[in-house]
Formats: sequence, C-alpha cells, structure tokens
Amino acid sequence: MTSNTICLLPGDGIGLEVIPLATKILEVLDIGLTTKNYPVGWKCFNETGKSLPESTLDAVINSGVALFGATSSPSGGAPGYSSPIIDLRQKLNLYANVRPAQSLPVPSSRQNIDLLIIRENTEGLYIRKEHLQDQNTAIAERRITRTSCERIATIAAKYAQQRKGLLTIAHKSNVLPLSDGLFLQSVRDTARNHAPGIKIREQLIDSLAHDLVIKPETYDVIVAPNMYGDIISDLTSALVGGLGVAPSANVGESCTIYEPVHGSAPDIVGKNLANPTATIFCLVMMLEDLGYHDASNRLNLELNNTLAAGIYTPDMGGEATTQTMLTSILEKLTK
Ligand code: NAI
Ligand code: MG
Repeated sequence: MTSNTICLLPGDGIGLEVIPLATKILEVLDIGLTTKNYPVGWKCFNETGKSLPESTLDAVINSGVALFGATSSPSGGAPGYSSPIIDLRQKLNLYANVRPAQSLPVPSSRQNIDLLIIRENTEGLYIRKEHLQDQNTAIAERRITRTSCERIATIAAKYAQQRKGLLTIAHKSNVLPLSDGLFLQSVRDTARNHAPGIKIREQLIDSLAHDLVIKPETYDVIVAPNMYGDIISDLTSALVGGLGVAPSANVGESCTIYEPVHGSAPDIVGKNLANPTATIFCLVMMLEDLGYHDASNRLNLELNNTLAAGIYTPDMGGEATTQTMLTSILEKLTK
C-alpha cells in the first residue's frame, strides 16, 4: 500500500449501502486509515459512458488497496458496457481470488467450517473469448497457462502452510486432460516445492461439490481454476449463512481489491436490509493483510458478538437492519 487512503468503489445497488460503512468503522478504529470514493458500474456507465473511468483505475493503482461493492450488469449485455470488476482483475493482474468460508454464530450457518478457496482469477473461460461458429453453434475458449498455475499454487501453498496444512486441488482432468491436466500438474508440482510439509489432495470438481455439502469441515485450502472456484465459493458461502456474509480478496503483485461476493441485490435496494457482514469481513481481511492485526481481531470479534447477540439481517433469519448491525458493532468497538 502506497498511501493511507483506501479507495472505495461502491458501484450500484446495495454496494452504495454497505461500502460506506467502511468509512465509519475505520474512523472508530482510529488507526490512521482514511477512505475516498470513486465511481464504477452501471450508473457510472450511463452518466459517463465508462463503467471503469481512468481516474478510478489510476486511484486504485496509486493506493494499492481498494474495497469494491457490487455493480449491476444489464442482462444480455449492453453495447460498450463491460463488468468493472472483471476489467480490474485483468488490468491489474489480480491473479488470485481468496474466498474464506467460516462458521458464524447464526442459525443459518453450519458449524465447524473453516476453509479457504483460492480461485484463479484471470484465465479459464473468463478470458471472454466467445464466437459464433454458425447460427447454431457458439464456441468459448478456455485458457490455462503454466505461469498462472504456478502463481496461484504459490499463494495457495502459503495459506495451507499457515493454516491446517491441507491443500485440495480441484480439477476435471479426466474430461479436460490438456487444460485441467496442466492446471493439476503445475499446481501440484509448485505446491510441493514451496511447501513440502503440506498434504496435497486432488479431487474432481463434481466430487468436491458433493463433499463440500456432505463434509465441509474436512477441508482447509482449496485451489481451483476460475469458473469452478466461482461456483464452489458461492456454494461454501451458502453453508455459512449465504451470499450476504461472504468476503473475498482479489490479490495481485502490487494491488489488492477486497470485495463482498454478492451482487447489487436490486430486490432489496433502499430497504435498509442489506447484510453488511460480507463487507465487514472484507475489512477484517484488509486490516490483517495491512498488518493491523489488533484492529482486525477487534472488528472480527465485535462482528461475531453482534451476530451472537441475535442482531442480524433477514437474509440470515434475523430482524435487524443494516444500520442496527452497524450501530451495534460501532458501540462495541468504542467501549
Ligand atoms: P445478488 O448477489 O445481487 O442477489 C442474489 C440474492 O441474494 C438476492 O435475493 C439478494 O437480495 C440476496 N443478497 C445478496 N447480497 C445480499 C446482502 N448483502 N444482504 C442481503 N441479501 C443479499 O445476485 P443477482 O441477483 O444474481 O444479481 C443482481 C445484480 O448484481 C445483477 O445485475 C448482477 O449482474 C450483479 N452482480 C454483480 C456482482 C459484482 O459486482 N461482483 C456479482 C454478482 C452479481
Ligand atoms: Mg460468483
């Protein structure tokens, strides 16, 4: 991080309701970090013709740390519109998407889960190279490169070493021996070299999806190609309380963008019902990564205490509003 200012990119919908909470929480934590807002997304596109203005991109590059909310994408696409988070991941080479899933003290969360999905974030099918071969045949290209596999394996092995020492590699190399075969082999070799002490397990993605529902507590770190990682991380968020609680970090060499996994949730916009948990967990991760361990632990504790006191939003089965949750956390932090 090159300055003490964190870029906030709220985006659209409930992104505009949950991301500003970061400013209030950082104020109360009083650790010298400030925030500044920058536009992205659908509303920004309609106003400026760009979903990711140069000035926003430059600010993120200069700061090195950003918190992204969610943006609304027109279904079926719109000419000239491109998803800003996918553009940011590719332009800033944010090669790893780190997605933790941890049990929470709410009835909608299963217990004893503490796992981390490391999703490759720049390649696979998400290179967005599609074409129509003819009127009835659409082709999508899928790219897997050794360099990306080695990068993702290095970070996954590091996390496994710091945690419970088990790394599961998700793949489908029985059907895709070249692309997933390359992923499996290079991730396995790199992880072995970087962290010889960890246990490495290889699992077909369909079998992994099954076992994540049946016995999620047996997993530690899971590393996966882009789309598999996208899908199973939504699954694991459902195990611990849903999309409203799932944080993520898009990690690159010189920049990290934290991002609640959920979208802009147009169905609950303006109702004070948006669950701020995912955003607050993003802050917990950010503070930890920036070396503010004490502030990170305090925020994590008071979020968990708020949930344990029965203060949570309807998506988790509670009756609290976004503001009630925030007030409870801020009160606990100032005590
Ligand atoms: P969504 O995540 O916005 O909503 C799915 C369901 O979960 C909705 O019922 C919503 O109310 C609920 N939900 C999501 N976050 C919540 C929260 N924090 N608190 C309480 N309830 C929450 O996904 P959906 O409906 O598929 O997409 C809506 C829009 O968001 C679309 O325009 C889509 O393109 C966009 N989207 C953007 C993402 C991003 O910016 N990274 C990611 C996913 C979707
Ligand atoms: Mg997703």
